[in-house]
Amino acid sequence: MNLPTAPGGFEVDVMELEVEVPPGKLLTYDLRSLASHLHILDTACMAVETDGLTRALVTVYAAPPLDKLDPVRGEDLVMDDQGWLTVGRYHDGQPAQIRLYVPGSGAQRGALFGTTGAGKSRALQLILAAEKRSGIVTWLADLKGGQSVPEAAGQVDWRVTTQEGLLAMLQAAVRVAEERMSRYAAMGRSSFLINRPDPLLSVRIDEANRALEKGAPYRDKIAALIKELGRTGRSVGVGISIAAQASHVDELGGSDTLRGMLKEGDTILLRWSSSMMQSLVSDGLLPPGTHIVPIPKRTGPPVLRSRFATVRPGAKVARGNTGGMAYLLGSDRPTAMMRFFPVGSMHEVEGLDPLILDLYGPGEPAHLEVTSHEAAGPAYLTRDGDGPAELVAAAQEQTQALVEEAAAEQKASTSGKAPIAVRIMRALEEAAEAADGDDSEGAGALDFDEILAAVNADGGKTVGAASVRNNLSILNRADRIAALGSGRYTLPA
Ligand SMILES: Nc1ncnc2c1ncn2[C@@H]1O[C@H](COP(=O)(O)OP(=O)(O)OP(=O)(O)O)[C@@H](O)[C@H]1O
Ligand SMILES: [Mg+2]
Repeated sequence: MNLPTAPGGFEVDVMELEVEVPPGKLLTYDLRSLASHLHILDTACMAVETDGLTRALVTVYAAPPLDKLDPVRGEDLVMDDQGWLTVGRYHDGQPAQIRLYVPGSGAQRGALFGTTGAGKSRALQLILAAEKRSGIVTWLADLKGGQSVPEAAGQVDWRVTTQEGLLAMLQAAVRVAEERMSRYAAMGRSSFLINRPDPLLSVRIDEANRALEKGAPYRDKIAALIKELGRTGRSVGVGISIAAQASHVDELGGSDTLRGMLKEGDTILLRWSSSMMQSLVSDGLLPPGTHIVPIPKRTGPPVLRSRFATVRPGAKVARGNTGGMAYLLGSDRPTAMMRFFPVGSMHEVEGLDPLILDLYGPGEPAHLEVTSHEAAGPAYLTRDGDGPAELVAAAQEQTQALVEEAAAEQKASTSGKAPIAVRIMRALEEAAEAADGDDSEGAGALDFDEILAAVNADGGKTVGAASVRNNLSILNRADRIAALGSGRYTLPA
């Protein structure tokens, strides 16, 4: 279709429709029907933003609007005094921003989800470079053995590449948070002030799914530490974020572990799988009623080729990739498609990518405040692999003990040996914890199906409905749980 030329400024041709449904109705739409109706062959040329209720803004472009963005320049990657960082553009050309720090409140929690090749590591690399340029202390776990974001080596305060290293790092972060907490309490301070005196500490995990998926060796411990940091870190300036490929939130650390954290944190959704979308909706991580336009794997209209058509030799249909396209679900435009600035070379380079190294800029990254070194412990102090011999030995010993504890815990929880009653209690405890602070009636209660699902998602042996029902009635008779009627159970008051 021919679109009228946009007045000034924006380069592509564009048309905008404002849509509203009558009062009493809720706006829903089917993207493909809408595209067909508007004669649009390439859904990458459409953006549909909704207010979650009755109104939508449909923008149609003559060419995919985010096909070409200028690469980010290092000097742009400094967060402003309100903690905002521009990481890309929305489809309409407006700056897309994420927040690394909220003055008066503290550090952020966040997650970056996307299928393989969606652009998680590039987006992460952009954020890592911004953290370096903003004087933020970054602790990074690159669980692909250091191959996901290899350029980050030496550009962050602490980098680990194994799950054992991650355990040590998370424990150190929890201890730093505790230490800061008591220090701030002694100062009579109730909120975190950046660089007064301590820097923001940002813990980031790429390929977090490797540590949190079923069968991961320290899944429970790592999930618990992440959750702990999510709970205690914010107000003392210790942030935690993960980048993960997952098809379901439950895959990440079991039933409720990360859900609470994600709900309050900032979720960024790159190209996803349909099951991920369902779980984000059913988990309430997307505001109710939110529809977002799926990100196709490639832009450009799909091609039908007749056997009778004469195909010119070499005639290829230009279809762009969509890496880096995403939705910032925690922003004030959760349904507006955006794209991260391109980072690094767009073709494979051998070894480290010089463009990415440039992004980090010269000089040392910021380091953890000396006051917290003791709390961070020997693993932190010997993170470069050197240091006094006894400190290196202490670090190894401490990490070894932690690893053994985590492995033993994991074995106990996944051997399926935990009695069903214990697993039911755990599920109800987790639900109560997730509903902490919610005073509404029945908050934290689970119905039978939810209990059955939670028990079967805890990594243990699969159990049938009959055994769960049986155990529920035993627990109920023993007053270990309370029945709320209509099949719902909770912990006794
Ligand atoms: N912002 C962007 N703009 C343009 N292209 C991008 C962008 N981000 C990523 N890409 C393209 O997508 C490819 C994959 O990106 P990246 O390695 O970050 O994905 P990933 O989600 O980390 O994948 P994996 O699951 O394999 O780790 C890049 O090599 C690049 O070609
Ligand atoms: Mg990656």
